[in-house]
Amino acid sequence: MPGTKNRNSDSETVLLAKNITKTYAMGKTQVHALCGIDLGIRKGEYISIMGPSGSGKTTLLDVISCLLRPSSGEVYIKGKPISKMPDNELAQIRGRTIGFVFQTFNLIPRLNAVENVSLPLWFQGIPKEKREETAKRLLAQVGLAERMMHRPDELSGGQMQKVAIARALAVNPDVIVADEPTGNLDSASGEIVLGMIDDLHYNENKTIVMVTHERDVAQRAERILHLKDGEIARDERNHKRLGKYAKG
Ligand SMILES: Nc1ncnc2c1ncn2[C@@H]1O[C@H](COP(=O)(O)OP(=O)(O)O)[C@@H](O)[C@H]1O
Ligand SMILES: [Mg+2]
Repeated sequence: MPGTKNRNSDSETVLLAKNITKTYAMGKTQVHALCGIDLGIRKGEYISIMGPSGSGKTTLLDVISCLLRPSSGEVYIKGKPISKMPDNELAQIRGRTIGFVFQTFNLIPRLNAVENVSLPLWFQGIPKEKREETAKRLLAQVGLAERMMHRPDELSGGQMQKVAIARALAVNPDVIVADEPTGNLDSASGEIVLGMIDDLHYNENKTIVMVTHERDVAQRAERILHLKDGEIARDERNHKRLGKYAKG
């Protein structure tokens, strides 16, 4: 139910990054994308990471969601340090814990909507019938009941992002991670997608981590992390949103 979430400070930290740096080698020069980041994301949070282009948002999101290994520091997923975890074990735990939504949708072009949404379930070893049933249910939930058999090139940008959201939900993950989810959408489709992300948080209690360079978009979250030059400039509680569904 909205407004009944556990916001206790001792609630479970799903993703934790400790003293993270990330340096990219560019020929002979080095780019210091992250310079000592500490960030914990608790179950049930709605956090946005905002900052100008090049401030390290995508790098931070990729590191904290275990897609990218940091240059130094440790990342914990559900309390487990990932540095010594073999790639296949990390892929399994990440696949069960996190659903990903990207700016460019990242759908597989030759697969239809049902097949795209089914893919994460295939990686988790779920049988075909169950995969299809889940995919169809989720596509109906995002309003694409009539488009299930369409391939990405037969869908609009907004529809592709809805497929991507359904795919992110397929394994019923704790956390939805979204990197500039409306970056390639017109404002009307963007508003629909952001509304869906809000619903996942307020109605389904999903933890949301959303990267954006747009203030308006960032303001939808309950916590706003401001990045500047690879460092956390400010970690803000967005009282307007926190109050939105508060009890009493
Ligand atoms: N694969 C890469 N190789 C080299 N430099 C990179 C790479 N990815 C990002 N960078 C650099 O790291 C910095 C942070 O990039 P990024 O995390 O993409 O920022 P943002 O998402 O805020 O725009 C930028 O200076 C960018 O050019
Ligand atoms: Mg980025």
